[in-house]
Amino acid sequence: MAVPNHVGIIMDGNGRWAIGRDLARKEGHKKGANTCMDIIHTAIDQQVKVLSLYAFSTENWTRPADEVSSIISLLDLYLQTEILAFLKRGVKFVLLGDRSKLSAKTRFWLNNAEKLSVKNKGMKLQLAVNYGGKDDIIRGIKSLAAQQYDFSQINEQDLGGMLDGGDSPPVDLMIRTSGEKRLSNFMIWQCAYAEFYFTDTLWPDFTQAAFIEAINTFGLRDRRFGDSGGVS
Ligand code: FPP
Repeated sequence: MAVPNHVGIIMDGNGRWAIGRDLARKEGHKKGANTCMDIIHTAIDQQVKVLSLYAFSTENWTRPADEVSSIISLLDLYLQTEILAFLKRGVKFVLLGDRSKLSAKTRFWLNNAEKLSVKNKGMKLQLAVNYGGKDDIIRGIKSLAAQQYDFSQINEQDLGGMLDGGDSPPVDLMIRTSGEKRLSNFMIWQCAYAEFYFTDTLWPDFTQAAFIEAINTFGLRDRRFGDSGGVS
């Protein structure tokens, strides 16, 4: 069965998971971070080539300060521990998002994971932090402008190549947990022909078996990329 080369995940439902247990929302994020680690291992085992995880969006800054800081602290912690452990499995770590608005500490650990894994040949792990799809496109256009690019000749390849993770293949399968059915500004360009998989399961409860089921469902999809599939 075909395995998607590039899987994206919108990890939704941490807050509801916590509230349903009378816990603070940050407990949901903690459990959600554990789930991330299980799913990264499974993606490597399933021979996914690129895994993109939506950890923190450009819009998430509007959340209460203590919730923002609990998510960022988790990221800082995992970038120094579990994510580094993945590098031993050959993972190449890449940040998606605008790092200029992150703290010096977070930037340090993100740069560190990227630098240490730059030559790794295994699965590419793209972690989206302070990421927005519209912001990604605008930053890509600004990068072209900075190179005195001739915009009268603009094409998909040139702009696509300037986006975050620009040398990665497009997203084949986008998974969203928690029952919401929208893209929420995640990789809007890269998802042009993605297949979508929605599940009501809240992210902290999303299991390795559930991930494998999503991948298997992808294998059954009929992808035509705008072609009629030979039907006249
Ligand atoms: C969405 O659930 C989740 C987030 C905005 C944060 C995702 C972050 C993590 C899973 C931790 C990432 C950490 C590492 C180390 C990768 P929500 O809070 O919007 O849930 P709700 O819709 O139920 O309120």
